[in-house]
Amino acid sequence: MISVKNTGLTLDQKMDSMVRVIKAQAEGESDPLALVCNATAIMEAYLEDINWIGYYLIRNQELVLGPFQGKPACSRIKIGEGVCGTAVEQKKSMRVADVDEFPGHIACDSASRSEIVIPVFYQGEVIAVIDCDSPSLNRFSEREVQALEQIAEFLSDRIYRIIH
Ligand code: SME
Repeated sequence: MISVKNTGLTLDQKMDSMVRVIKAQAEGESDPLALVCNATAIMEAYLEDINWIGYYLIRNQELVLGPFQGKPACSRIKIGEGVCGTAVEQKKSMRVADVDEFPGHIACDSASRSEIVIPVFYQGEVIAVIDCDSPSLNRFSEREVQALEQIAEFLSDRIYRIIH
């Protein structure tokens, strides 16, 4: 569909474009699952040097695997466990430069070296997370975290509709 890796754009331009493209494709699609699946593929197209990106949705007080791009992953994560469960418990984005230094990190893909996890809020409650892994140490900056936070906010009501 799109490939914007290594195009010479600055990180700022790339992240702005990624958010814009996700918002644009939402205008033509009312089905929340179709839209969130394509948003995942768009993020994969824009973010270089990653090996996994996707969602875990909270169902019955547990994180359950949602749309993703990458190798098959753990399908369930308990709140408070791993980077994903910690982001839910602490209600904040996590940026882990070295997953081996994060106590309780859950290794779905042994290639992953660094990771960011962004909570998705709906009416003040965390309903899901966006998780992104890289095979490189310290791959992510606050700029990527900020872009994924914008996407999480934009998709929040769609993700709520997938869950309920
Ligand atoms: N590493 C995550 C588990 C999910 S996978 O990376 C896809 C964690 O520690 O919560």
